[in-house]
Amino acid sequence: MSHDVLSELRLHLADADATDALGAALAAARAHLPANAPALHVHLHGDLGAGKSTLARALLRALGVQGAIRSPTYTLVERYGLSDGGEAWHLDLYRIGDAGELEFLGLDGGEASLWLIEWPERGRGWLPAADLRIDLAVDGAGRSARLQAASPAARAWLDGVAAMGATAAFTGSA
Ligand SMILES: Nc1ncnc2c1ncn2[C@@H]1O[C@H](COP(=O)(O)OP(=O)(O)OP(=O)(O)O)[C@@H](O)[C@H]1O
Ligand SMILES: [Mg+2]
Repeated sequence: MSHDVLSELRLHLADADATDALGAALAAARAHLPANAPALHVHLHGDLGAGKSTLARALLRALGVQGAIRSPTYTLVERYGLSDGGEAWHLDLYRIGDAGELEFLGLDGGEASLWLIEWPERGRGWLPAADLRIDLAVDGAGRSARLQAASPAARAWLDGVAAMGATAAFTGSA
């Protein structure tokens, strides 16, 4: 892999505002991906309270979602129209018993251009592979974030985040 294309980014997010800033940077960088790019699958890993919904909400907001952005903890999925005309699906699989339950939800993802999935490990065997895997963990008063790109589109996405110089906004020490 070329050294100037990122496949991994590690950040310290000192507070919830820094998590919001990461979401906004991901949204801004996504705008530079090819318009005909395939749907991007983002898997958000991390314990209860790690900041997965905070990040998803900030990303959705920055992609133009205007109304309430609820955690899909009980509904499993919330769908949002984006300002670029695409559609995002935000899933939280914490409450499903096993991945087979997902079949009955009719989540074929037909129209989705972006998937944000909390607790993706609970949908293993059913979910498409992640393009971008994000691991969040409590780290002191803040959070650590590790972003790993697993597809060319996701590598371009991470590269865009870094190219913006945006990492400095999260920590000053990315
Ligand atoms: N970088 C950060 N530093 C400190 N607190 C943060 C940070 N990012 C988010 N938080 C806070 O962590 C709390 C839990 O966040 P959130 O609900 O997003 O977690 P979650 O990973 O979605 O949890 P769950 O698995 O229960 O859905 C919120 O109060 C949020 O403001
Ligand atoms: Mg959550």
